[in-house]
Amino acid sequence: MTKTKTNETPPVVVLAVTGSIAAYKAVEVARSLIKAGVRVIPIMTRAATRFLGPATMAGICGERVLTDMWSRDPQAAEPGEPHVELAKMADVIAVVPATVEVLGSMATGRAHDLVRATLLCAQCPIVAAPAMHPQMWAHPATQRHISQIAQDARVALVGPVRGLVASGDEGLGRMAEPAAIVARIQQCLSVGDLSGMHIVVTAGPTIEDIDPARFLSNRSSGKMGFALAARAAARGAQVSLIAGPVALATPVGVARYDVRSTLQMQAALTERLGDDLDEADALVMVAAVADYRPEKKSAEKMKRNSASMALRLVANPDLLSGIGGRRLGPRPYLVGFALETADGDALVDLARGKLEKKGVDLIVANRAQDAFDKDDNRIVLVTQSAHEHVAPASKTALADRILDRVAAGCTRTSA
Ligand code: CTP
Repeated sequence: MTKTKTNETPPVVVLAVTGSIAAYKAVEVARSLIKAGVRVIPIMTRAATRFLGPATMAGICGERVLTDMWSRDPQAAEPGEPHVELAKMADVIAVVPATVEVLGSMATGRAHDLVRATLLCAQCPIVAAPAMHPQMWAHPATQRHISQIAQDARVALVGPVRGLVASGDEGLGRMAEPAAIVARIQQCLSVGDLSGMHIVVTAGPTIEDIDPARFLSNRSSGKMGFALAARAAARGAQVSLIAGPVALATPVGVARYDVRSTLQMQAALTERLGDDLDEADALVMVAAVADYRPEKKSAEKMKRNSASMALRLVANPDLLSGIGGRRLGPRPYLVGFALETADGDALVDLARGKLEKKGVDLIVANRAQDAFDKDDNRIVLVTQSAHEHVAPASKTALADRILDRVAAGCTRTSA
């Protein structure tokens, strides 16, 4: 396991156990992590202690187990609030198992016990392993909460999987196997795969003003670019997010630069990448850049005084092509998006055409019908010599797939 810290200070996983029959499997998760050199600090809900003894977790982890906000000795040498301290210490918080109750709290931001308060206070990646009866998992209320959680890029859900549950029923609700949970935690801890890298991401539309009241733009929501920025930051990168006008919160740990027009985006890119393109390891151009702008922007609101009118447009620069053309070596690794209405081979062909024309390393091909304003998408990863269809998934999950390519590409270019 790659560690994010030195041997003297092992990575810290706060292992939050909640009240499900699967709680006993948290022991195996703890053991595997400890074996890999991780410090595991267990915390438990009251309900969890009915399924698993705190003494067991304390013995396995060699740590005191806190079970509520008030269980710490008020005379304790160290002052402070346990949920704040735990959130600060954690490199990852793992919720194993995650009951329907705690998932609901994560979705709605509730903080009425130590586990929930710690989760709400955390800024680190969170890995949660849902476990419940299949009917509870399938319930629309649960699914509403799950799709809310999926929008929080710091949270990775592992499972549930299909199989036998405690009642003897079978279906989707069984907790993922400890090995899969450990692997996901391990991935978050070794997210050092992007640490030390500066990644520039553009997101959202650009807007070209016609007059003070009207503009030209497109339907881009910015969700994919923001998910990429969030995941890159969660995986340890220094992230500069150049955002067109969108109503999205800045992801934790990301430096955001707001722009409006294509020319402003171009200036922000030059600023972040440097004149010689040597200030970033990778550029991911997700933005739906407006290809044309009005030749003249009217300072006054244009009046309706004829039956028809012609709006003269001039071409904006192709920002990505410009950068691809100026790049002398393999750095920065360049990723473009191709938004098309075609599908299948035609989509791949159009994407490869853009890859060649713009001089980039990877094109993420997607369809306007699948992409706009959705939380999920369907993409094809297209390089010079190959393409890979990625199964439909949340934009957060897709961001990780794209970043896996960025990580591999950057490693190659620095080798
Ligand atoms: N792009 C850019 N500058 C532009 C237009 C697009 O940098 N003026 C980038 C986008 O951010 C994206 C890629 O180029 O990464 C492809 O964008 P897309 O809109 O799919 O293609 P276009 O090049 O605009 O071609 P067309 O509209 O003809 O399909």
